[in-house]
Amino acid sequence: MAADRHVPLAVTSDLWWKNAIVYCLDVETFQDSDGDGVGDFRGLTERIDHLAGLGVSCLWLMPFFPTPDLDDGYDVTDYYGVDPRLGTLGDFVEFVRTARDRGLRVIADFIVNHTSDRHPWFQAARADRDSPYRDYYVWVDEPPEDGPTDLVFPGPETSMWRYDEEAGQHYLHRFYRHQPDLNAANPRVRQEIARAMGFWLELGLSGFRIDAVPYFVEELGASGETTDQDSHAYLRDMHAFVTRRRGDAVLVGEVNLPPDELRTYFGDDEGEKLDMLFDFVGNQALYLALVREDAGPLARALSTLPRIPDRNQWARFVRNHDELTLDKLSDEERQEVFVAFAPDEEMRIFGRGIRRRLPSMLGGDRERLELAYSLLFSLPGTPVLLYGEEIGMGDNLAARGRMSVRTPMQWTDERSGGFSTADPADLCVPTADGERGPEHVNVAAQEHDAESLLNWTTRIVRLRRETPEIGWGDPALVSVDDDAVLALRYEWRGRTVVCVHNFAGREARISLPDVGELVDVLAGRRTSPDLELEPYGYRWLREAG
Ligand code: BGC
Ligand code: MG
Repeated sequence: MAADRHVPLAVTSDLWWKNAIVYCLDVETFQDSDGDGVGDFRGLTERIDHLAGLGVSCLWLMPFFPTPDLDDGYDVTDYYGVDPRLGTLGDFVEFVRTARDRGLRVIADFIVNHTSDRHPWFQAARADRDSPYRDYYVWVDEPPEDGPTDLVFPGPETSMWRYDEEAGQHYLHRFYRHQPDLNAANPRVRQEIARAMGFWLELGLSGFRIDAVPYFVEELGASGETTDQDSHAYLRDMHAFVTRRRGDAVLVGEVNLPPDELRTYFGDDEGEKLDMLFDFVGNQALYLALVREDAGPLARALSTLPRIPDRNQWARFVRNHDELTLDKLSDEERQEVFVAFAPDEEMRIFGRGIRRRLPSMLGGDRERLELAYSLLFSLPGTPVLLYGEEIGMGDNLAARGRMSVRTPMQWTDERSGGFSTADPADLCVPTADGERGPEHVNVAAQEHDAESLLNWTTRIVRLRRETPEIGWGDPALVSVDDDAVLALRYEWRGRTVVCVHNFAGREARISLPDVGELVDVLAGRRTSPDLELEPYGYRWLREAG
């Protein structure tokens, strides 16, 4: 017997991000249409049916703006353009239109914290102290002694201040030296950013992933000055602006801070700042739990998350385009994860992270991959997939820094995985190598294999969309008598869903308390609350109505 999954649509569609499936990709590495070795909007548009078929509902594009590309596009020289290597504004609009035709929303990375040092604003700022652009950036004669000292890129950078000959002063750069921080306290900067966001909303974007939020919100302290200004007012203003321009626009924030500092980034009352925040704390705990084969670290991390207003949501991820940062773990915990998942020094980066994708870390173990991705789709929040996760694609440690996990999408077993007809030596990023390179792992082969990870992912995406209890409901940890098992219960509108995951490579027997008759929604059959879970086994269970 299958339980009826019907949910009144009117209830769930307004705050669409509460029950969305987000898919992050970089136009540069998705599909090259003109054989120059660089992916482009036309190529991406050609591939839209792969995304529609997978069932995701929102695409998140990594930066596609004109850039010298010294930080993979996170160094912007023009907020109103498209990197000519990726196409034209016309190609962009065609793509957004085609995506909309398939029912897909599009959001984009927006880099508010800094520009490229080649941005005309910075060029004007450094050339002339009296330029109106001077104050678009943060300048000091001498770096303050009591400013923050935590470096985002330890190794490549040794300071967050850099003396500029032409300017005769030091400028602030929280990231690379070629990424001068914008002065977020300057109202003109805020207006410029708002104007650019308005432009992209007008062209069809449904919102933005806001990069590096705490860095620009806390900028004022960094320059050594003190001010009474409420720096969070910037986030409130930004939110008010984008929702005025487009009622359903969403702001997803990159805020990697301890749990007790997160709540205020959603907003102080009704969530009127960032609509969604990535759960970095839960992400890191997930890896510790996988290594220890113990659900405890993840259960504890989830219980430290603040309760959030109804309109807000967590953005849940297993891997993103950056290193897997483990900065919130203790030194010992981080070592445990390093030893298990990044045994070689070249797999690690910045002393705090891992530059591999999950299938490599798990040695391609299908059972544990399913465990991790079932968690992605059933932990509190909206799942965010990184392109290629649906097929278990690999990485390439020979690629520079974090580019190791940003290799081209793997479509076929042909040369360069069907990504580009260019000479492989001319690709913008080399393809993944080894056992999870395109010869072994690709979309075409998996489409024809009913048991493939691609088809498994497609099924679970569909199931997740049909289980709004997870997106909307209140999660509660259910205590069960096996430490390897995480059981989460969601209540929403009189409906109950319980998701159960066994982290151990051995069987687990548990008994769920206080539940009625259950339907196993993955298997489509009734089941009792006394569960026998296989090694790394998982169940999504709905109380039969
Ligand atoms: C992005 C990184 C980028 C950095 C600087 C981060 O939020 O995820 O890839 O290097 O911001 O823009
Ligand atoms: Mg191209």
